[in-house]
Amino acid sequence: MYSEKVMDHFQNPRNVGEIEHASGVGTVGNAKCGDIMRIYLDIDENQVIRDAKFKTFGCGAAIATSSMATELVKGKTVQEALAVTNKAVMEALDGLPPVKVHCSLLAEEAIHASLWDYAQKNHITIDGLEEPKTDIHEGEELLE
Ligand code: FES
Repeated sequence: MYSEKVMDHFQNPRNVGEIEHASGVGTVGNAKCGDIMRIYLDIDENQVIRDAKFKTFGCGAAIATSSMATELVKGKTVQEALAVTNKAVMEALDGLPPVKVHCSLLAEEAIHASLWDYAQKNHITIDGLEEPKTDIHEGEELLE
């Protein structure tokens, strides 16, 4: 049912943790399954993502997609990171079963929410980035 890459990123997730004084933090949740994902970005003065970490309170596919999403955005500019869609994450993981597609959407939304937070903090706009609808603040204690 799951590709080897999904199993690998689920069993050995990369970039688990948090970044102190992160440039941007985004937390998103899916109301149906109740899963929550938070992504932290460390962004340098050239708008390049130096580091990315995540904390996910969710299913195995959500953990695998957070792991892959953080790997994919590292080293990219904030503009390039926008192209890391849920499709890109799924492709990098060699696919996900249809019922798990929403988990990868959470990863895309968490990246967007953390980029949005960065843009807000720095009073800049990132072309093509819209305010995340699912950015949440309640329930954060689940992750602490
Ligand atoms: Fe909801 Fe995976 S089941 S994020």
